[in-house]
Amino acid sequence: MDLKLDYSNVMEDNIGSEHGLSWSAIEALIEKGKSIKTELEQKAQDNTLGFYNLPFTTELASEIEKYTEAARKRFKSYVHIGIGGSALGPIALQTSLLDSYYNLKASPQMYFPDNVDPDWLDDLLKTIDVSKTLFHIVSKSGGTAETAATTLYFMKYLKEALGDTFYKNLLFTTDPIKGLLNQIAREYPIKCFRIPDGVGGRFSVLSPVGLISASLAGIPIKKLLSGAAKMSDICNKDDLKNNPAFIYAAIHYLYMGRGKNISVMMPYSNKLRDLADWYRQLWAESLGKRYDVNKNIIEVGQTPVKALGTTDQHSQVQLYVEGPNDKVITFLEVEKFENNDILKNHFEYIPEFNYLEGKTLGELLNAEKKATELALSNNKRPNLTIKFSKVSAENIGAYFFLLESATAFAGGLLNINAFDQPGVEEGKIATYALMGREGFEQKKTDIENQLKKKKLFQI
Ligand code: PA5
Repeated sequence: MDLKLDYSNVMEDNIGSEHGLSWSAIEALIEKGKSIKTELEQKAQDNTLGFYNLPFTTELASEIEKYTEAARKRFKSYVHIGIGGSALGPIALQTSLLDSYYNLKASPQMYFPDNVDPDWLDDLLKTIDVSKTLFHIVSKSGGTAETAATTLYFMKYLKEALGDTFYKNLLFTTDPIKGLLNQIAREYPIKCFRIPDGVGGRFSVLSPVGLISASLAGIPIKKLLSGAAKMSDICNKDDLKNNPAFIYAAIHYLYMGRGKNISVMMPYSNKLRDLADWYRQLWAESLGKRYDVNKNIIEVGQTPVKALGTTDQHSQVQLYVEGPNDKVITFLEVEKFENNDILKNHFEYIPEFNYLEGKTLGELLNAEKKATELALSNNKRPNLTIKFSKVSAENIGAYFFLLESATAFAGGLLNINAFDQPGVEEGKIATYALMGREGFEQKKTDIENQLKKKKLFQI
């Protein structure tokens, strides 16, 4: 495992004191950081902070490998039904660690329909043979509307194809005891994996939520775990000055206090692009909170934005360099790409191309990253880089753990609960009410009354 955090471009030595940080400001948070760390470790021991323990679940990983080895022989397609924390990590694993055109070349083909767009789901239905498809329903709560509806949608066709044996094509990953999926699993002998206690959706990628689809597609899941375990050792060191999770959290916490409320993540790698999508949810849902732990209204959080280098150099970077100085930008950089083909100028009569001769595409990508980094720093825009020695299962596992741990530290510094999501729950309840779910009648009446008062502005 080889990940590095370069945060030199947030320091005042590099970008000036108006927008840069002093080392003493970071050091001043170390005592608080130590007590946060002790609290997190205590919670991990009590199993209320389950993600801390996931890197060490190698026995479970063996069970998953056994299951997926058999499933690979039975199924031609895999459909992962889940949303939010039950989908973004699994998707990021596929895009980062599989051949980008995996589905055109390999089996089982992997699909992640994480939205209830009826036409999109219909396209998928027409693409797969449901009788040869494993439907993996992933829901911690077991009742999320989108997951339930997508399951019901495919169920009709699965029952038509397989009759009473439809359940043989189902796999559930859910809470150990609670929820509607467990009720269904009591009626039919459906294989169930469990999301361990204390592991919330957005912290669950290294649990069966992410490991099953990864293993099915051939990703070495024990390497993911061993990378995360190595990062866990680093993030558990008492020396917080050298703890990348604490440093990442402290930097962002200090900037939030200075009004920089946007956290851009910009991978310079297509393979890593969905790591930014995963981070977007982790950082937004965990830190975007109205109340602190003492119930004071504080309304904190950074809006995470995803961008892609170099593509978004031609779309977003103008704003990042010259627009409002309200962002902290995190680059993801790959030091060594697999493909090292050397470019040649095939048009000798165009000497303007000569500078590309003898270079690799990776060199160009990283030079462009460096150029963006310099442009930002010269314009006093704070930026940092997470460097991946290469795109590997170990490094991706380490990345997940690093940012989960940083999120936990940032929650502690902000004095909030980083592990709940009352705003998401509010939306879920309103959806149940609008769709007429039993038990939500009063809420439905309240919403209807509210809608009556709404003024309509139409063009
Ligand atoms: O991080 C979270 O807790 C949420 O984003 C959930 O993952 C998402 O709402 C889906 O919930 P569930 O897994 O219970 O279906």
